[in-house]
Amino acid sequence: MAKPVLKWAGGKRQILHKLRACISQDYDAYHEPFFGGGALFFDLEPGNGSINDINPRLMNFYSILQSEDWRDMVEEAKELEENHSEEFYYECRDEFNRLRNQRGQMRYDERVKEAALLLYLNRTCFNGLYRENQSGEFNVPIGSYSNPDIVHPDQLQEAHDALQGIDIMNKDYRYIGHEAEAEDLVYFDPPYQKGSGENFAEYFSDTFDVDDQIELLHLVLDLHEQGVEVAMSNSGAAERLYKKEDRYQEYIENEDLFVVPLEARRSINSDGENRTGADEIILTSVPEQKRKESLSSY
Ligand SMILES: C[S@@+](CC[C@H](N)C(=O)[O-])C[C@H]1O[C@@H](n2cnc3c(N)ncnc32)[C@H](O)[C@@H]1O
Repeated sequence: MAKPVLKWAGGKRQILHKLRACISQDYDAYHEPFFGGGALFFDLEPGNGSINDINPRLMNFYSILQSEDWRDMVEEAKELEENHSEEFYYECRDEFNRLRNQRGQMRYDERVKEAALLLYLNRTCFNGLYRENQSGEFNVPIGSYSNPDIVHPDQLQEAHDALQGIDIMNKDYRYIGHEAEAEDLVYFDPPYQKGSGENFAEYFSDTFDVDDQIELLHLVLDLHEQGVEVAMSNSGAAERLYKKEDRYQEYIENEDLFVVPLEARRSINSDGENRTGADEIILTSVPEQKRKESLSSY
């Protein structure tokens, strides 16, 4: 079982057992259109399917890690690790941003360099965050690791192995509407903030807002209708939003789609009335008897 090699906001390592309990035992190909750190993918090692993220630097990293020459990238990252200092971190950040401006015309060795820099910056920056300014420059400051542990060759080898046979893409998630076929599994993990309130703007970012959430829901339902197995992580707030869609409500009422609440928090709503809302949910098309693992075993 491989592990994620990058720290990523919204990473799903903590809830892997719950995710496993929401998917079936057998599916043809596996697809993950909002890949990030890919916690579920590395856990499952599906061997067939596609992974995608809109972030080009991230997908360049995975495509170099997948390639035959991935060890060149590891060697470069080791060198960066050996030279780590505050001054060096900011030099690397500048170099990483300089390469970004050459996207589309990068030589292979520059792509390897960019991948090594991403690994180094990811392990040394503040909280392993990935954030860009308005001009698309990575702008996270250095973290407080005096002796960061950056390169784990065994872990990278396992991730390299897990990536074999997988299509690596850098598109908008909507590609999945054409890519997935009946009996495939698609796991969606869009950007969201945990929470269950009704002030939706709080939970969805400018880059993935309320309209994007609704559009995504309908794509998920379309795929389900075509016989594709679907699972999605989201906030409780998104589920509240979805409930306003008749099509969604019908699926839930007909027990053709299931909501698994993850974290429940008791709160008082504006009318002073108690309600229990889950901060985070998993939506799945897989009925309990077909799931890979039973939730009741946790
Ligand atoms: C919550 S993170 C995924 C975390 C991942 N499951 C993990 O375990 O690390 C969401 C990802 O979606 C990507 N993303 C945002 N908008 C997107 C879009 N329109 N199409 C594809 N990917 C997108 C972001 O770059 C981010 O990496």
